[in-house]
Amino acid sequence: MNILVTGGAGFIGSHTLIELYKAGHTAVVVDNLSNSNPVALQRVAEIIGVTEIPFYRVDIRDREGLERIFAEHKLDACIHFAGLKAVGESVEKPWEYYENNIGGTLTLVDVMRGHGCKNIIFSSSATVYGDPAEIPITEQCPKGQCTNPYGWTKSMLEQVLMDIQKADPQWNVVLLRYFNPVGAHPSGRIGENPNGIPNNLMPYITQVAVGKRQELGVFGNDYPTPDGTGVRDYIHVVDLAAAHVCALQAIGRKCGMGIYNIGTGKGYSVLDMVKAFVKVNGVEVPYSIKPRRAGDIATCYCNPSKAKAELGWEARYGIDDMVRDSWHWQRQNPEGY
Ligand code: NAD
Ligand code: WQD
Repeated sequence: MNILVTGGAGFIGSHTLIELYKAGHTAVVVDNLSNSNPVALQRVAEIIGVTEIPFYRVDIRDREGLERIFAEHKLDACIHFAGLKAVGESVEKPWEYYENNIGGTLTLVDVMRGHGCKNIIFSSSATVYGDPAEIPITEQCPKGQCTNPYGWTKSMLEQVLMDIQKADPQWNVVLLRYFNPVGAHPSGRIGENPNGIPNNLMPYITQVAVGKRQELGVFGNDYPTPDGTGVRDYIHVVDLAAAHVCALQAIGRKCGMGIYNIGTGKGYSVLDMVKAFVKVNGVEVPYSIKPRRAGDIATCYCNPSKAKAELGWEARYGIDDMVRDSWHWQRQNPEGY
C-alpha cells in the first residue's frame, strides 16, 4: 500500500517508515517540522536503502497543502502521528493543543474522504484511560478523566473517528493506544530528539548518562508500588512501529473499527529502568528522589492480548533492549540530529 504518514519526521513516525518499507509498503510523509528535523528522514532513507522518501513540509491544518498531496499521489491509507504531545505545555496552551490536534485531524479526515481514502490508523494513548479502573488495562476498561488538554485531544479524537466510522462504514479506523514508547532503531541513526528539557523518563536518563544533565529527579517514591516509584508499560519503538504494519493488514481485511492497547503487558518502575540502564550500559545515572509530579498515576500497564489475537502483533523486545538502544542512539548523537 502507499501510505500517507503524517508526523513522519517525528520519533515514532520515523521508526514506522522503516517497518513500512521492510514490509513492502511505500510512504509519503507530511510534517510541518514543528517538533522534528528533516535529517531524520535522510537517515531513514539510508537505512531503507532508497534515495529519498517523498516529503512535504505541510501543516495538516493546511487544506490546500493536503489537497495538493492527494492530487499528486494515489494514497491507500493514512497513519496519523502528527500532533503536539507535551503534557505540561498543553496545560499552559490548551487552545494551541485543541486547535492543532483536533483542527488538524478534522481537516485531514475531510480531505481524505474527499479523495476516497477512508483508511486511518490513529496514534492514541494510554492517557485516555485516565487513572485506570483496572490493572492490567484491557480495551474494555472505561475511558477516564484525562488530567491535561493533551490527553483530552486524544480522547476526543477517538470519539470523532469512531463516530465517522459509524456513520460511514466504508471507513476502516484503527485506534492504537500506545503505552510508553522508548528505545531507538538498533542502528543508532534515529531516535528520540526532544527539544529542551525532556519531559519523559528515558530521554532524561540518557541525557544524564551522556553528561548533559546532572541527575535524574525521581518523581515520588511513596506510591503503592513494589519500590514506591511509578510503574509503566515501556515499549520499544521498533515494536510499536511494527504494530502499525499489522494494523494495515487489518485494514486490508476491512476491519471496520478497531481499538488496541499497544504495550508489552509488563510494568517496570522508574528505579527498575534506571537499574537496567546502568547494568546493561555500564554507565552511571545519578538520581535523587523528588516530590510526586502533578497528574502522575502510580501504575499503568496493559493487557495486550487483543492486539495479539486480532492483529497478530506482540512485542519482541525487552527492557534490556530498550535501555541498550536508547543509549546507543544518545551516545552516537549527544546533541540529537
Ligand atoms: P513527535 O513530536 O516526535 O512527532 C510528531 C510529529 O508531528 C512531529 O514531527 C511534528 O513536527 C509533527 N506535527 C505536529 N503538528 C503538526 C501539524 N499540525 N502538521 C504537520 N505536522 C505536525 O511525537 P511522537 O512521539 O513521534 O508521537 C507521535 C504520535 O504518537 C503523536 O500523535 C503522539 O501524541 C502520539 N503518542 C506519543 C507517545 C509518546 O510517548 N511518544 C505516547 C502515546 C501517543
Ligand atoms: C514515566 C515515569 C514519572 C520523568 C507520558 C504522557 C502520556 C504518554 C507517554 C503521550 C513516571 C517518572 C519521569 C522524570 C521521573 N504520552 N519520571 N522523572 O507520564 O507515564 O506518560 O508519556 O501520549 O500521555 O503522560 O511518561 O516518561 O513522563 O514518566 O521520575 O524526569 O517516570 O513520574 O512514573 P508518563 P513519563
